[in-house]
Amino acid sequence: MAERFDALIVGAGAAGLMCALTAGRRGRRVLLIEHANKVGKKILMSGGGRCNFTNTGAAPANYLSANPHFCKSALARYSPWDFIALVDKHRIAYHEKELGQLFCDISSKLIVKMLVDECLAAGVRIETDCSIERIAHGDSDGGDFRVHSARGAFAAPSLVIASGGLSIPSMGASGFGFEVARRFGHELLPTRAGLVPLTLSGKHQERLADLSGVSLPVTASCNGREFSNQMLITHRGVSGPSILQISSYWQPGDDLRLDLLPGRDALDWLQRQQRERPAAELKTALGEALPKRFAQRLCEHWLSNKPLKQYNLPELKQAAATLSAWPLVASGTEGYRTAEVTLGGVDTDGVSSSTMQSKRVPGLYFIGEVLDVTGWLGGYNFQWAWASGNAAGLSV
Ligand code: FDA
Repeated sequence: MAERFDALIVGAGAAGLMCALTAGRRGRRVLLIEHANKVGKKILMSGGGRCNFTNTGAAPANYLSANPHFCKSALARYSPWDFIALVDKHRIAYHEKELGQLFCDISSKLIVKMLVDECLAAGVRIETDCSIERIAHGDSDGGDFRVHSARGAFAAPSLVIASGGLSIPSMGASGFGFEVARRFGHELLPTRAGLVPLTLSGKHQERLADLSGVSLPVTASCNGREFSNQMLITHRGVSGPSILQISSYWQPGDDLRLDLLPGRDALDWLQRQQRERPAAELKTALGEALPKRFAQRLCEHWLSNKPLKQYNLPELKQAAATLSAWPLVASGTEGYRTAEVTLGGVDTDGVSSSTMQSKRVPGLYFIGEVLDVTGWLGGYNFQWAWASGNAAGLSV
């Protein structure tokens, strides 16, 4: 005999925990099933251990999805301020780092503890180390979903898939949600790593590899999007917030440009340097605006180097064009091993935007990263997990 619940939730990450506590508070009997040995592992590792748990500016424009309207309803009904109220209720200290990004002062552990405490107070049962062997659904089960697991069989009229995406497999990520979606007739949109460092190869990599650790502010642009923030040179390529952000909009072969003097008109700046210090070489002047070793490398391979007074206007214009739109020829990404998120996933066309319930199979829900909704870097992904988890939690 299967043990009966009102809702079975697969995946005790950000979305699953929020869904469970919301449904539990409504008096639903909820079982939260997690195959890893503990809940909320990605929350624990997020934000460098301090969890960037939301962004006060979170809006639909901060999300990538084949249907940009899909996320609107859930985000409107559960705002960053709703989550902040929960954090305040648990007296968790936090601060704004930049651009509306809220981080815990002490540790991400406090966010996981808060969610688990809320689940337990709402009567939610949590099973960890619980791998699922099979899911049955049909008339013989009275319309229920029946989950056969390492810890026995469970049945419920609602099954919520909150098993996340493919990033960081070592943390428990699996393609489970996509398999369930496919099996129940849902369309899947192609998946790829997002918010991920880019790799360089060939000459580009050879020229930059020994600068690993050098960081500078840039504006990265690709496919009509641009992000201004730090870029970090790594052993394999480039990373840092501006690169992670633009990586979600980049695909192999796309033109990716970096403005190395963000906020400045490069030609204006070069002409001023020429007027003020005509005898100085370009690399000396650039070495004061950019990290010195990076400026030198630019002048060795991408710009000509000579005293500034020797540049004529076309040469200065050429240098300005390189500095303001330096082509970065990425060979790929570091992939799911280091990606913060998975782009693509369960097509939102088959899911209700107000409840996250499948339009094909009543009682089946998809929430969080498994859906084709991916946020920018900066707390937007957790806000989507909270908002979509809340929407389903109010419906199951
Ligand atoms: P999540 O991955 O959190 O949870 C899914 C759960 O399902 C996991 O516990 C997994 O073990 C479980 N599971 C999978 N398959 C299963 C199966 N077959 N049976 C049972 N359980 C199963 N975002 C942000 O907003 N701010 C930040 O600071 C960061 N920082 C960050 C750092 C790093 C290193 C990463 C990798 C990611 C981030 N993110 C982030 C992104 C954020 O972590 C992510 O978007 C959310 O955790 C997604 O929440 P979900 O609940 O959908 O998936």
